[in-house]
Amino acid sequence: NSAALVDRFGRRATDMRLSLTDKCNLRCTYCMPADGLDWLSKDKVLTAAEILRLVRIGVDGLGVRELRLTGGEPLVRADLVGIIAGLRSAHPLLPVSLTTNGIGLAGKAQALKDAGLTRINVSLDSLCAETFAQLTRRPFLDKVLAGIDAADAAGLGPIKINAVLMRGINDDGAADLLDWALTRGYELRFIEQMPLDADRGWTRDNLVTAEEIRGLLAPRFELSADPRDRDGAPAERYEVRLPGSSALLGTLGIIASVTEPFCADCKRTRITAEGKVMSCLFSRTEVDLLALLRSEPQTPAGDGAIAARWQEAMWAKPKAHGMDHTGLGDADYVQPERTMSAIGG
Ligand code: GTP
Ligand code: 5AD
Ligand code: SF4
Repeated sequence: NSAALVDRFGRRATDMRLSLTDKCNLRCTYCMPADGLDWLSKDKVLTAAEILRLVRIGVDGLGVRELRLTGGEPLVRADLVGIIAGLRSAHPLLPVSLTTNGIGLAGKAQALKDAGLTRINVSLDSLCAETFAQLTRRPFLDKVLAGIDAADAAGLGPIKINAVLMRGINDDGAADLLDWALTRGYELRFIEQMPLDADRGWTRDNLVTAEEIRGLLAPRFELSADPRDRDGAPAERYEVRLPGSSALLGTLGIIASVTEPFCADCKRTRITAEGKVMSCLFSRTEVDLLALLRSEPQTPAGDGAIAARWQEAMWAKPKAHGMDHTGLGDADYVQPERTMSAIGG
């Protein structure tokens, strides 16, 4: 176990989530303030070479078996295709996936596939242009839809679609979104909103819970447990059928971070765009690897020092996020300083 990312509670992190940038071209209300944030200066962000080194340390030395690239919005990074090509050539068999808002994907999907990207998840909260613009504060629904089409055509599937439901804003479109995804063969996941927004507007009352989501869909769809092993994934999966029909239409996921938390089986280790380890979305400490990446020589000893610091960071991973109670006043829950965009989805 000396060569693994383990924590005090016996969990082993094998999924690495790496944020490529803190920048984003949308301003989703649950994630960022209207005016954006003060972006990191370029010298504070991991370079492509530093990313490749970190992934190599994780994969060769610490038991990382899957990599997901996040942001901010990873497509805004100009060297993304090169990073993926570099990762692919160093790790021919490593699953490398991307979580994106889909803006700009239409023009890049084929290049991403050719560079060796395995698959893609796209965020899409509404199929109504007006609602989309209200929620993301940008009028780009058509670009996202074109991006999803291009990713599908390029063979970046199975495509997963992420939708955060907000009460009174897009919750009435939940069944239509599911219908749309099933028709196209995408796996839709509804996500409970977490308190990771900039405006600190999250309330327990406003949360559209997993239970409510199942209720919203019930008039049109029948959900039953998906027999496949969940394997530590955030999404609980369901088989979807029409009421009274035996024909399987597809799969739905519900990511119920707040009301049905999955921390006990967590396999994730996160690296922010500025090279800090976050053992959990809600960890209160961050451990810097950037300074070590820039000072330690590229030797087994240098790489070992970085690996050891990463292991220390993961050892301190909290048991759980603590937000699954009725309010946020509990002593064991403190909203993180960082917004989702600054942590990495
Ligand atoms: P797949 O392997 O494709 O299933 O990916 P994924 O669902 O792990 O990744 P994705 O980036 O699409 O994540 C979807 C959502 O899951 C995120 O936007 C978060 O809301 C939530 N999520 C991901 N990781 C964590 C986590 O460690 N903790 C919590 N609470 N939520 C998470
Ligand atoms: N709660 C839950 N999910 C969030 N995301 C962003 N902010 C939040 C939040 N506060 C999701 C987006 C996207 C991924 C990158 O993170 O919907 O799917
Ligand atoms: Fe893992 Fe933390 Fe997310 Fe819980 S909140 S699932 S421990 S990263």
